[in-house]
Amino acid sequence: MPFSKSGGLADVVGSLSPALVSSGVETRVLMPLYGFINEKGFKYKYTLTVSMLDKDEKIDIVSIKHKGVEYVALKHPVFTERKGIYGDTSFTPYGDNAYRYLLMSKAVLQYMKKSRFMADIVHCHDWTSGLVPFLLKKEGFLSYSIFTIHNLAYQGTFSRFDALPLGFETEEEMFSGEGIDRRFNMLKAGLIYSDMITTVSESYVDEIQDKEQGCGLEDILRARKDCLAGILNGIDTDEWSPETDKYFKTHFTSKDQSGKKKLKAKVQEKFGLNKEADTPLIAMISRIAEQKGFHELLHGTPCALEKILNMKCQVLLIGTGDKEYVDKLNELAARYKNLSVNIIFSQEASHLVEGAADFFLMPSRYEPCGLNQMYSLRYGTLPIVHETGGLKDTVIDIDSDVYKGNGFSFKVLNSDEIVNCVKRALSFYNKGSKAVEEARRVGMETDFSWNESAQKYIKIYKKLLGGTK
Ligand code: GLC
Repeated sequence: MPFSKSGGLADVVGSLSPALVSSGVETRVLMPLYGFINEKGFKYKYTLTVSMLDKDEKIDIVSIKHKGVEYVALKHPVFTERKGIYGDTSFTPYGDNAYRYLLMSKAVLQYMKKSRFMADIVHCHDWTSGLVPFLLKKEGFLSYSIFTIHNLAYQGTFSRFDALPLGFETEEEMFSGEGIDRRFNMLKAGLIYSDMITTVSESYVDEIQDKEQGCGLEDILRARKDCLAGILNGIDTDEWSPETDKYFKTHFTSKDQSGKKKLKAKVQEKFGLNKEADTPLIAMISRIAEQKGFHELLHGTPCALEKILNMKCQVLLIGTGDKEYVDKLNELAARYKNLSVNIIFSQEASHLVEGAADFFLMPSRYEPCGLNQMYSLRYGTLPIVHETGGLKDTVIDIDSDVYKGNGFSFKVLNSDEIVNCVKRALSFYNKGSKAVEEARRVGMETDFSWNESAQKYIKIYKKLLGGTK
């Protein structure tokens, strides 16, 4: 149950934290109190004073307990008086983001002092918290820090002057780029000063050490490779369960999949598609962005998506994102009645569509982990993916392994490969429901819960604590 969400990071922190608590780790999550978070139930604790250059900022600490985790929220106008997280829309970051997340990072240390919660481990996620490991070291805290990379492409780079409120001299190694592009880089700071770096799948660990996917930080990642580990994300199996899902009533299991068929009819109707039981339904639930493979899907005439729509299938898309792609999708939807485009961000629609679809298309250019393919597997929706990052680590091609196969995958990302892979998936569908049900069963019975992954984090925490500082 994340309080704020722009992508998978929220799902991860929201479900890893209670999993840690279940294993006996006292866990507190520090986060900004964004304007859209309902403050009901949060209790006021105290007010912190954080000095930012020549200004003392007052931050109210409010907190709430949920599933054994204490969520500690930082209440300050730079967070509460905004509509969005990073910007009002995903393309317009707030001009003072450096200030906002510097304030957050400094407040973390103040909170630890004031509450006397001297955590053994401070676990930071992505660029907004990248300065915390640096500050912990500078201020002589004994806590160890872990920095988890969810997406290396978003680094939080700012001008040199934006770093001034830090209150410490910045080191040249915290900058990236050359000449006038040389910028203060928050994610890089996290990579340099944390005691351990993790990322969200094993394949992504290797990929980010190469130039192609290293986003300019491959050298530092290679230099620290002994402190770099990949731990595949788990999913919240209470929230994502076809047997109990709160958004639909026609529940199903790997042994009795009949509820899935009923749900498909309902979803086809709800999203304006013909109610055709035997037409394979391909879903996409995604940020509509280049990272997610939309260039390869939509460029050219006819584009890959059009070629797919000319086969016997229906395509249902849910998501928000870049205007250029959204326009093209709407234009195709006006021409093809087997395409339903829904420019929305909705938990309910995501659950319904995951539950109802036959296939889930995820041709990401890169994917640090990816959660939707795991939600799909759990709901008997066969994924069709590009073999990259976490997709490569979770999807096994049915044509390469009949017993363990749980989906379809292609090695090289381009329009033809997407079309060919979808063609393969559709011809598998035509083999009949016995084969399809058996393939679904494999994914549905795989354990994607946090049990194993939370233990791997705990192992790292313990290893750090056993070392010397
Ligand atoms: C980011 C990545 C995604 C990953 C998620 C959670 O959103 O792009 O692949 O699943 O973080 O770690």
